[in-house]
Amino acid sequence: MATFISHSIAETAALGEQWGRAASAGWLVGLSGDLGAGKTLLAGGLARGLGVTGRVPSPTFALVHEYPGGRLPLWHLDLYRLTTRAEIAAAGLESYLCRPQGVVVVEWIERWLEEQSGPLAPGVRMRRVEIKIAGDAERRITYEDFGG
Ligand SMILES: Nc1ncnc2c1ncn2[C@@H]1O[C@H](COP(=O)(O)OP(=O)(O)O)[C@@H](O)[C@H]1O
Ligand SMILES: [Mg+2]
Repeated sequence: MATFISHSIAETAALGEQWGRAASAGWLVGLSGDLGAGKTLLAGGLARGLGVTGRVPSPTFALVHEYPGGRLPLWHLDLYRLTTRAEIAAAGLESYLCRPQGVVVVEWIERWLEEQSGPLAPGVRMRRVEIKIAGDAERRITYEDFGG
């Protein structure tokens, strides 16, 4: 388990960017944290680190955005509006949670994990990330790697 204290949106974006530069195919990054914690910002940094250009908006309404333009394809999901794993499956999103050819970033990953906290399935490499709001511009970002 690692901890990163961010003091600004730039620091959060830079952390994501660093992860994006190091990312390899088949990687899942699962984000948890309240509304406004910085999940979308971190995902945007990760996209940038993969070489994706342009805006990375919240996929709250679309549920999934695909970014094919980077070093690896990226899928960005937001499960906020879905509350159970059954609903996620019914929305056709389960197949996005494991993409061996690219990188997947999921906001509100706990919606999918439910009671599970460890590795999801054999061969899935996941970074489980928790963002806590610690002040106006301060965020406590903890993360742990599973699988692989
Ligand atoms: N250190 C920080 N890291 C990330 N976001 C921050 C930080 N400080 C303030 N913010 C603000 O928090 C909000 C995070 O928004 P967003 O990334 O959309 O959150 P989420 O996707 O978790 O709901 C933005 O309004 C941003 O300006
Ligand atoms: Mg968001």
